[in-house]
Amino acid sequence: MRERTILLITLLGLGLLASGVAVGVLIEPLPEIATAEALTVSRALKVFFGIAAAVFLGMEGLLVFAAVRGHLLGKSRGQVGSGLEMVWIALPAVLVAVIVIVSVNALSEIEAPVRNPMVVTVTGKQFEWDFFYVDAAISSDTLVLPVGRPVKLVFASTDVIHSFWVPAFGEKIDAVPDRETSLTLTPLIAGIYTAVCAELCGDGHEGMQAEVRIQDPAAFEAWLGSQ
Ligand code: CUA
Repeated sequence: MRERTILLITLLGLGLLASGVAVGVLIEPLPEIATAEALTVSRALKVFFGIAAAVFLGMEGLLVFAAVRGHLLGKSRGQVGSGLEMVWIALPAVLVAVIVIVSVNALSEIEAPVRNPMVVTVTGKQFEWDFFYVDAAISSDTLVLPVGRPVKLVFASTDVIHSFWVPAFGEKIDAVPDRETSLTLTPLIAGIYTAVCAELCGDGHEGMQAEVRIQDPAAFEAWLGSQ
């Protein structure tokens, strides 16, 4: 009986682990990935989703099992097996520890300082985004970035609080009047993306969008030269 229980628990654990890994591998949490930072965020989210899926399936499985069998934790009512108690305490602690470690790693990776980034000032105003390439002294209503070159976006607002969000960047940041905020990223995958404003900022809020174009470095230089 005891061996059968251990075998069942082992099989259940392996099944949950497999379903967690499957969720992590099969589900892409971000709609698109354009930057190295988005890749880091996506990897962390996959671990969280995998853990959430395994916990959800495990709890629902136990619930169904308990409902079907009429008892779960031992024959005597109100008494929990002392071995199981340790599992209830240790397992969540381990899972939370994993989530903390993955989060801290991802955050330090994303926020690691980069050397010599290209600086673009992004100004939010009701209801448009303006991009100013500091070194080239060029203004644009489209954010064009070269693949592989670290970029520092420095945000400002001339009126109210806006929020700069490119879903494919995996990060969101506020543009606040009288305060400087910034975002450092490394474009990874060429393509055309959309920046939206994610903070209700007035009656033109929903139209506050801009095109974001990530190009190979040669095409970027050609674009810069043509401005
Ligand atoms: Cu700017 Cu909403």
